[in-house]
Amino acid sequence: MQKLELDEIKRKWKRKDLISLEQLDRFDIESILFLAKEFKKKLQQDDPLPSLKGHTAVALMVEPSTRTRVSFEIAAKKLGISFLSIDYKSSSIQKGESLKDTAKNLEALGIDFLILRHPTAGSPLFLANLLKISVINGGDGAHEHPTQGLLDLMTVEEHFGTVSGLDVLIVGDILHSRVARSTFWAFSKCGARVKFVGPKTMLPSYFRDFGAEISYDLDRSLPFADCIVLLRIQHERQKKDLFPSLNEYIASYGLTKERMRRCKPHVLILHPGPVERGVEIESELADSSKSAILKQVENGLAVRMAVYYLLSRSCVR
Ligand code: CP
Repeated sequence: MQKLELDEIKRKWKRKDLISLEQLDRFDIESILFLAKEFKKKLQQDDPLPSLKGHTAVALMVEPSTRTRVSFEIAAKKLGISFLSIDYKSSSIQKGESLKDTAKNLEALGIDFLILRHPTAGSPLFLANLLKISVINGGDGAHEHPTQGLLDLMTVEEHFGTVSGLDVLIVGDILHSRVARSTFWAFSKCGARVKFVGPKTMLPSYFRDFGAEISYDLDRSLPFADCIVLLRIQHERQKKDLFPSLNEYIASYGLTKERMRRCKPHVLILHPGPVERGVEIESELADSSKSAILKQVENGLAVRMAVYYLLSRSCVR
């Protein structure tokens, strides 16, 4: 990693928080990706990493998480950041303490980064406007999951060399998915064409206002795709059943080996996880050479290191 390039990117970075990819411009996104790729190289070559020793990160996950929480923790440790994770079920949130008070108290304890996953869209922005410390959105309701969008982008860019000009399908429960929104912004801002595909009940026509195409027909969309991002049905956010039966959903929107015959030979499959095998994707396909699912997880580590690095106030190298 060239110290000059690092310094230059850090000098130009003006943001305190990472709340959404809609807010970022292409330069911001490319800066994060450039650093993530450099960090990944350093990890692979076992080269020394910059040190953020003296910084503390706290993850407050008010919804379940495996990948996001653990990779923020490992990314922190790689950079020398002290990391704590709050189990909200045993925190004072259970005694009725507000999110604002919880966050203000964490800030008073001297932390530098607060990673928040919360069922309410807008919670990370609300805290970012209140606090001096950096707030990182770890997923807020059906709004955004910016580090997921970035790691999806990195995975596809690494595979194809560029995302510019690619056709990307985002398939499934678009309405309830924060990943759909962040991944849309990441790809579209970097020059890919994005199409949302799903049943009408999970894909309202206002998604066209994003600037994306929309389709209710997966079979007709598959032949044009370079990359397919599959989404889990977010049962926890649905207030009523949005399709007649799971079997009917699978029949129209589940990606199977049979359906893959319609795709270009080079098509790449992504999924943010957790995967519901046999629903949005046939199990064998999730483990096949067409799948980049574990590569996405691997790249999540480098992306989260880059995010800490850019948001940190000072860095010792
Ligand atoms: N992709 C993702 O956010 O996974 P987790 O819910 O396990 O963090």
